[in-house]
Amino acid sequence: MSPFALTRALPADATAAALRADVAAGLTREPKQLPPKWFYDARGSELFDQITRLPAYYPTRAEREILLVRAADIAAATGARTLVELGSGSSEKTRHLIRALTALDHYVPVDVSESALDGAARALLADHPGLSVHALVADFQQGLALPATPGPRLLAFLGSTIGNLLPPERAVFLASVRAALEPGDALLLGTDLVKDERVLVRAYDDPEGVTAAFNKNVLTVIDRELGADFDPGGFDHVAFWDPEHEWIEMRLRARSAVTVKIPALDLAVAFEAGEELRTEVSAKFRRAGVRAELAAAGMELTHWWTDHADRFALCLAVPVPVPAPSPGAGPGGK
Ligand code: SAH
Ligand code: TRP
Repeated sequence: MSPFALTRALPADATAAALRADVAAGLTREPKQLPPKWFYDARGSELFDQITRLPAYYPTRAEREILLVRAADIAAATGARTLVELGSGSSEKTRHLIRALTALDHYVPVDVSESALDGAARALLADHPGLSVHALVADFQQGLALPATPGPRLLAFLGSTIGNLLPPERAVFLASVRAALEPGDALLLGTDLVKDERVLVRAYDDPEGVTAAFNKNVLTVIDRELGADFDPGGFDHVAFWDPEHEWIEMRLRARSAVTVKIPALDLAVAFEAGEELRTEVSAKFRRAGVRAELAAAGMELTHWWTDHADRFALCLAVPVPVPAPSPGAGPGGK
């Protein structure tokens, strides 16, 4: 068996159709918004990688610290033979986990970015020739059709990417994770925590301007894929803390009034001067909230680990068995 396979669960035309639908819906509603997965073309994945190395962007370092300190605990608690990772990106932090999971023989990275998957798999296979890597180009919000690999399986979702989903989307996503887990499997979830507003805002508005470039890259994607004439330089990057929702919100603000043509959609979108387009939320979490969201999806939080400064948490959860229907309690019974 080949140690590397890449499956495209997203045919190119389906991706193009989804982008058209998201842009058409998002730019004709009030306020305007776009879903975050369109940030990650090859350039976007590269910019995100730069973000993870910025001094202001603490989440990657904090999560890596926890992975390094707790890797052996995670290995002991899960005994995983298969590691599935959703939104794996460069798989850079994952290396520490892979090294510690002594029973591991299968790694299934799942990402919308084929370029990120390809680069990550090459680097991993060079270090772990015995590992079988099955990369999946897929949207983790469209249900999880995973390859048949041996259990126990550990499903990792790192980087607080869960915070980029809106609360109702998180509920749907966590239910699909629960449905993918069998008895003995586990979920490893990374969540950034609520903290001082200045620390949070700086992480999403770095002085180097890398996050601004990352945010504006979504306009470049729309220009290239849909023939639009967005001028990324005509928009300002905006990041602010929403204390009610406890999330960072990222927007692009039009510097002056502009009408953008999107030929592939036969659409012209007018922005007023100062009008904002929401491109992302990044929710911050508390332990009780994570526990409750997991419980609502049929999972039980078993471990909660934070970094030395309590900035970020990594938790482990297991599926709660669905009670067998008692005789006579089913539909038509009683
Ligand atoms: N796990 C890495 C990368 C986080 S960035 C880390 O912790 O550093 C978020 C990653 O999720 C990107 O690689 C992006 O391409 C991917 N992603 C975003 N939305 C996705 C979706 N709907 N389906 C699959 N992958 C997605
Ligand atoms: N999951 C990351 C986060 O919420 C994604 C991210 C980091 C991000 N910086 C960003 C998304 C800037 C958009 C813009 O922290």
